[in-house]
Amino acid sequence: MSDRNKELAARKAVEYIRDGMVVGLGTGSTAEFAIRALGERVEKEGLEIQCVPTSEASAALGEELGLDMQSLEDNPVIDLTIDGADEVDPNLNLIKGLGGALLREKIVAAASAREVIIIDPGKLVDRLGTRSPLPVEVIPFAWGLAKLRLVDLCRRAELRRRDDDEPYVTDNGNFILDCHFVDGIADAASLELSINQIPGVVENGLFVGLTDIVVVGLDDGQCRVMERST
Ligand code: A5P
Repeated sequence: MSDRNKELAARKAVEYIRDGMVVGLGTGSTAEFAIRALGERVEKEGLEIQCVPTSEASAALGEELGLDMQSLEDNPVIDLTIDGADEVDPNLNLIKGLGGALLREKIVAAASAREVIIIDPGKLVDRLGTRSPLPVEVIPFAWGLAKLRLVDLCRRAELRRRDDDEPYVTDNGNFILDCHFVDGIADAASLELSINQIPGVVENGLFVGLTDIVVVGLDDGQCRVMERST
């Protein structure tokens, strides 16, 4: 899907940001458009915004753009976070983590009064797990056991590797197991809990009930805004 769709969604989401807010910065190619658009607004409008990043990459980009980067420790209550996703279902539940930042993304989402997800139309699915694998972050010591336990819950679990074949390591020093499903995930809420009970699993990429708004950048230059029903 084109960068145009991503940028459209990102610019629309950045309109939700108001002066004085603490803003969570997501991770990935779509979130990068939002961070850049926020940088532009701060510069043009002189907004006083504090930012909490979900990855080292987003922290570096925010600093490069001159944004006021803060820690979650100093700002455990976030007004609004803008982040991407790998899949979004009709209930606005998500799979996240193909970019490897799922753990901090989920923590920041949980700390946020409003979670705004920005996507292109290719990320919309009827059922989670049908297009994207589900990333699971595990401590390196436990990955063999975690893989064994995960294949009771999915068809295949693969250790994510870098181009040089070494294991991919997250910002938190952990590994990722990518879980593949035959017909997708029937019950995301229950699977999220079951996976997190496996010893050594730190977090998984199912985001259930955490999203407030999804902004989809459409091919005709418009945005579709989907809000969680309360
Ligand atoms: C990062 O870990 C992910 O959760 C991203 O938010 C997700 O993979 C979307 O990334 P893109 O916007 O690059 O598709």
